[in-house]
Amino acid sequence: MWRTLLPLLLLLTLPRRALCVQETSDGPRSLHMLQISYFPDPGRVRYQGNASLGGQLTHVLEGWDSNVSVLQLHPLQEPQRWERTEESVRLYLSNFHDLFL
Ligand SMILES: *[C@@H]1O[C@H](CO)[C@@H](O)[C@H](O)[C@H]1NC(C)=O
Ligand SMILES: *[C@@H]1O[C@H](CO)[C@@H](O)[C@H](O)[C@H]1NC(C)=O
Repeated sequence: MWRTLLPLLLLLTLPRRALCVQETSDGPRSLHMLQISYFPDPGRVRYQGNASLGGQLTHVLEGWDSNVSVLQLHPLQEPQRWERTEESVRLYLSNFHDLFL
């Protein structure tokens, strides 16, 4: 979909918070993803995040620990493909969480 990917990953760690921003751009279409992780207690994490494509909100992410809902708001991916994307997002969050344990 994006031939020229210009990924920019910014990982900013604040006290008990981590913010990840990723942007890719292919001409007029730009993908923007934001993920905030909040660690109120050792071993607990709250996730909030979203993604937008060309300025339109397309995905939301919300939840605690391993109980996180990841939704695509528009049928951008076929259900089977989306299932795999969702699995990889969950795996990413789980690996991300392990970094802070
Ligand atoms: C996207 O997520 C961030 C972090 O939770 C939030 O501040 C922002 O308002 C959200 N944007 C939209 C359009 O929901
Ligand atoms: C999982 O999250 C949902 C929505 O935030 C909540 O209603 C539900 O009680 C949670 N389940 C567990 C096992 O924590």
